[in-house]
Amino acid sequence: MEIGAVEQRDEFGDIPVIAGVIAGGQAAPGSESVVESVEASLLEVGGFSGKPGQVMTVPTGGGGVAVLVGMGEELTFESVRSAAGNAVRAVKGETAVCLLALIPLDGAVRAVVEGLALGSYRFRTYKTSEDESPPPVRIDLVGADQVDVDEALVGAEATNLARDWSNTPAMDQAPSVIAGAIEEASAGTAAEVEIWDEARIRTEKLGALLGVASGSRRPPVLVLMRYQPDGAEYHVGLVGKGVTFDSGGLSLKSSSFMEDMKGDMAGGAAVAAAVIAIARLELPIKITAVIPFTDNAVGGDAVRPGDVLRPVDGPTIEVLNTDAEGRLILADGLGVVRRFDPDLIVDVATLTGAAKVALGEKIAAVFGSDSTVADRLLGAASRSGEDLWELPLFKDYRKSLDSNIADIKNITGSRYGGAIAAALFLSEYAGDGDWAHLDIAGPSLRSETYGEHVKGASGMAVRTLIELARDLSTSR
Ligand code: BES
Ligand code: MN
Ligand code: ZN
Repeated sequence: MEIGAVEQRDEFGDIPVIAGVIAGGQAAPGSESVVESVEASLLEVGGFSGKPGQVMTVPTGGGGVAVLVGMGEELTFESVRSAAGNAVRAVKGETAVCLLALIPLDGAVRAVVEGLALGSYRFRTYKTSEDESPPPVRIDLVGADQVDVDEALVGAEATNLARDWSNTPAMDQAPSVIAGAIEEASAGTAAEVEIWDEARIRTEKLGALLGVASGSRRPPVLVLMRYQPDGAEYHVGLVGKGVTFDSGGLSLKSSSFMEDMKGDMAGGAAVAAAVIAIARLELPIKITAVIPFTDNAVGGDAVRPGDVLRPVDGPTIEVLNTDAEGRLILADGLGVVRRFDPDLIVDVATLTGAAKVALGEKIAAVFGSDSTVADRLLGAASRSGEDLWELPLFKDYRKSLDSNIADIKNITGSRYGGAIAAALFLSEYAGDGDWAHLDIAGPSLRSETYGEHVKGASGMAVRTLIELARDLSTSR
């Protein structure tokens, strides 16, 4: 979708106009002329009061058509982004005009662009039918500056790219395939991509990644992305979980838990898409990203409960449950990224069902090596509009990971506190510096379409990572 910034306009002909209505039926600032030209009785009959989530398409006095969208009582980035997402799905036709960026809120343009571009996302690669209501091809955004529009589009497009990767069936997205797709998507940006094949992974002694990969006929790969613009002072290391399908391995998942596991590479997808966006935005910050990609499959050579794996660095691991595989490949990913000596490491992973139990489907968990680090992530998330909540790295639980025969085991044996145990496991491999861990198991997938969210893969964490990079490249 193309979004073009345009000056104030009063004549729209028969092109649909997106206009905002505040709770109580009041026009949102900038939408007055359109809302006033709609007969009040139409709104009454339709029960339209401006509540969040309401959308109604009505004729205007001038022979045109208005797509009215409820914005609720408070005009915030969240309500504006959400309203734009709801509105764009109601537009019929190839073009539309949008008045939502006229509300007097600093940065409203960005929220509107995100809402439009994210809310109109479709994943139709495997549909053979025509899209019955395709998204508009072009939207004229009244009162916006094209520079702001284009900047906001970078983040939204990166989110949609991560959504595409996570929505793609595992059968069509082997580790080597997603690695190639990342390389292709990075072409033309200043992000350099290096792909380690299985032989290289073996030479580098990434024993935990190899262990997880051993059950699959599709070999693992490790994607190394580097963005190092001149003059960058701060260096962020990113690590993403790239499990291209999580069957659980020999500790096999039951079918209902396996259904969504093509998306177990959502953390890796988010990291890759964010690096591409950061490079497109030319942010003055150095980034090194490491994404191990592998299946967690069942096979004669699969890693067994009771086996011991040797990651490239850090404690040896007794694997007692092969379904706790994310932390294994991340141990190696963290080991690799630490070699580059970043100032801060952030990993992103669909790591535990326990994080989903704790915070539900809409909130990701963040753990920080200290509260300043966690606060950085929380700040970035609040500006990006993604929902993040802090959980503690509660040291007393570390004992529960003690192994009888190795340095650490990959499960605790307790049903409780699983997201914290997994984070404590990772902390053994993250080094002594600043580190944050995002567990996106819950919000990596949306179960319904509303606002800027679309049912399916969410692209969670992409915009928070971009925002973090923006923050660290300007203030520290
Ligand atoms: N990929 C899963 C976690 C997950 C669950 C992601 C639901 C998205 C939605 C992870 O590899 C896993 O299987 N974790 C286990 C860990 C357990 C065996 C300690 C879990 O959460 O059950
Ligand atoms: Mn698993
Ligand atoms: Zn997994």
